[in-house]
Parts: sequence; C-alpha cells; structure tokens
Amino acid sequence: MAEIGVDVGKAAQILTDGGIVGIPTETVYGLAANALNPVAVLKVFKAKARPHFDPLIVHCRDQNEAFSHALFIPDLAKKLAAHFWPGPLTLLLPKQSHIPDEVTSGLESVGLRVPAHLLTQELLATAKIPLAAPSANPFQYVSPTTAQHVQDQLGRKVDYILDGGACGVGLESTIVGFDRLGPVIYRLGGLSQCDIEAVIGPVRVSLNQSSNPVAPGQLKNHYAPNLPVIIYPTPIPEPWLKNGFAYLGFDSVPQNLNPKEVILLSERGLLDEAARNLFSAMRKLGGLRLSGIVAAQFPDTGLGAAINDRLQRAAAV
Ligand code: TXA
Ligand code: MG
Repeated sequence: MAEIGVDVGKAAQILTDGGIVGIPTETVYGLAANALNPVAVLKVFKAKARPHFDPLIVHCRDQNEAFSHALFIPDLAKKLAAHFWPGPLTLLLPKQSHIPDEVTSGLESVGLRVPAHLLTQELLATAKIPLAAPSANPFQYVSPTTAQHVQDQLGRKVDYILDGGACGVGLESTIVGFDRLGPVIYRLGGLSQCDIEAVIGPVRVSLNQSSNPVAPGQLKNHYAPNLPVIIYPTPIPEPWLKNGFAYLGFDSVPQNLNPKEVILLSERGLLDEAARNLFSAMRKLGGLRLSGIVAAQFPDTGLGAAINDRLQRAAAV
C-alpha cells in the first residue's frame, strides 16, 4: 500500500521524478502527475482505468501560472479567476502548445484550476510544475474526500498519498467554458451557478446526459457506489422492502419509509454541509449488505443542484 503522510518535499520529489501522488484539494482528492510529462500523465490514466478520451484538469500555483497555459483569455474568465481562484472553479480555455495532448485528450482546450487547499498550494510552490489531476477514484466510482478513501481504492497504484484531512467542499469543481454565445457551465460543482452569475451575469448550463464532446468525462452513469440508487419518491422495489435499504437524506427521513440504515447529510438543513458529507456517505452506504440506497431530492438552490446532479448520475447506473 502507498505511504500516507504530510511530507510535501517527498511528494514534490516523486512528482518531479515522474511518479503519481494522491493530493488533497478543497473539492475532492486528486491523483496528480507532472502535467508536462506525458509518460507520468499516462500512469494516472492507467491507475484509474480511465479512458483516454477523458481529459485531465491542470492544477496551478496561481492565476498567472494558470493563464500562462492558455492561448487566449476572455475577459469573463479573468473576472471569474479574480473572484474565485483559489477555489472550486475550473476554466476551459484554448491551450498553449506546451500542454501535452495526453492531458487534454487531444482537445484544443485545457481545464485550468487553482486549488485552495494549503498543503497542495505548498506542494505546487515546492515542485514548481503544473499538476494534471483527475479525482483519485477508479473510473466511474464516487470521488474520494479523505486520504483513506484514496488508499482504499488506489493504494497499490500510487507512489504516495498526501494527507490533507477531509475535503472542505466535498464536490468537484464547477467547470466553466466559453463558446460563441458566451459562458457555459459544463459541470455543476462546488461553486454554485448563483455565485458565478453574481459576478458575470447569466450563464448557460449544458450538462451532458450521455457523452458530451465538450466535457467528455461527465458520463450519465458516473458516481456509482456499490449499491443501486433510486431517488425518493420513486416507488421502492419489492425486494428492497423485503431485504432492507438505506436512506440518504438531507435533514429528515420521510414518514413511513422504514429504512434499515439512515445517513442525514445535514440535520441543520445546510446545503454546504450536505455537500461536504455526500461522497463519504455514499461510500459508507454502498458498503452495506442491503438491497439499495434511496436518496432524497435536494432543494435545487446553491450547492443543492450539484448534489442532485451527482445523485441522479449515481441512480442512472
Ligand atoms: O474538483 C475537481 O475538479 C477535482 C480536483 C482533483 O481538482 N478534479 C476532478 O477531475 O474532478 P476529473 O478528472 O474527475 O473530472 C474532470 C472533468 C472531466 O469530466 C473532464 O472531461 C473535464 O473535467 N475536462 C477536463 N479537461 C477538459 C477539457 N480540456 N475540455 C473539456 N472537459 C475537460
Ligand atoms: Mg472524477
């Protein structure tokens, strides 16, 4: 198994030498490689069993470095970066030719992000290289929000895991790109549409339902725990009633439901707290010997929209 620790110098050395490291970010844990080293980047695809058509986000020290990898930066992108970096925002921008095709899956754009986690900022400053990092989970599984989650699934495949504690946001970054008509959200995530619109005005949302040429990795059936998921109030299948099911809720359990296990993501009814707890809860419930998971529908405001997106994808498997 991989060593778990807080040795930033060691992590930086492994990455410089072409190895792969689990890294904490404020959203979810990533599986990082030197973005400028195609051989290292391919190790990430292999460890995750990720198809090569699904590009990686490049994590940078600061705005200046991030924009140095882009050919062109729309004014609205500059505005978003100034407001939300470091933070849970990924910008899709036309790439400079020094960004390898292995990172972008041959696309002309690159996903750029400045993460807010202090340990990873220290790592980026020490290693002085951009880090290509997808979420550190096997392809199509729930994203990891602790170092132990990474160890549990990829421990034999990574060279080191940097332990930054539990992720503060708990959902992946929101992905924003720009087309002829203006800004587009391609993935809902840890930065809400409302917060984005407060800065740049109306934004279109284009989430792919099956496979999307613009955000190719956002498959409809991502985020699968090991049990089937249905969204309440979908009728509960007969065998689930007989053998037992779990309820994954917001702040309360619907009357007369009688689940065998319950996790409420925020008894206080706070969507940020619910987002932070979501993936851990999906993992826990997915490990139980039950027929399935009945998940609540969350309010569609703030981070609730991204929570619903993840649960719907988990239910679509
Ligand atoms: O919060 C996050 O974004 C986390 C942490 C580790 O930073 N990373 C993450 O990476 O969620 P990943 O690989 O699991 O999801 C990245 C998504 C994929 O759906 C991919 O298709 C899309 O970003 N993406 C990356 N680069 C892209 C590009 N150049 N054009 C279109 N989509 C891109
Ligand atoms: Mg992922």
